[in-house]
Amino acid sequence: MTDTLESVVKVVTLDGPSGVGKGTMAQILAKDLGYHLLDSGAIYRLAALASIQQNISPEDEDKLVEMCTQLDITFDASDESKVQVILGGENVTSRIRNEDIAQRASLIAAIGPVRAALLQRQRDFAQEPGLVADGRDMGTVVFPEAPVKFYLTAAAQVRAQRRFDELQANGLDVEFNAILHEIQERDTRDSQRKVAPLKPADDAIVIDTSDLSIDAVKQEILSHLNKSVLA
Ligand code: C5P
Repeated sequence: MTDTLESVVKVVTLDGPSGVGKGTMAQILAKDLGYHLLDSGAIYRLAALASIQQNISPEDEDKLVEMCTQLDITFDASDESKVQVILGGENVTSRIRNEDIAQRASLIAAIGPVRAALLQRQRDFAQEPGLVADGRDMGTVVFPEAPVKFYLTAAAQVRAQRRFDELQANGLDVEFNAILHEIQERDTRDSQRKVAPLKPADDAIVIDTSDLSIDAVKQEILSHLNKSVLA
């Protein structure tokens, strides 16, 4: 193996569509393995929020790229239960978790030069002792030589139901069909874009989580990790 970043630092990639539970799984794994965590979706969401704050149209490529090169982002992991996301000194952890931000993130994430401007920032997360990287193109573009890659998938109906249950449990008045529509819209855009489309890396282990509990998914991932170079 060449002496690349991913072979020097152990990187586990976790890709898949929205609402599949990658975020939760990535957090659990990072904690279990004692690794760092990259929530790459949060970076695209921060870019989306910054573009709104700075009044930059999602079509204005030049301004978006310039903005991305200057994004002042901090991930504060001092509270173990939840990473805090800071943009320009302001804690925006909850503000980036809504569907408007997600949709805008997905729009600007389809722009190649925007992705290029955010690439190194993501690679910088690969630090000792290791990294769990969660996203859409972790195994295909950002860490193509990662020794272990996972791609989580689940039927759109199942993902929408999980999101619906979660939002309802948080006391929000939501409509199942609206959630399903948003998930399908984002899936279509993310998987059909020309640059870094959502797809499993050729060497990724694909896990369909439709009928699996969080714990069952974790056990399956850990069994692969134990067999792999991370053992
Ligand atoms: O994962 P999350 O839902 O936070 O991602 C928000 C959006 O950011 C996705 O719908 C996708 O368009 C974009 N994204 C991406 N590449 C990544 C992570 C997220 O294009 N690695």
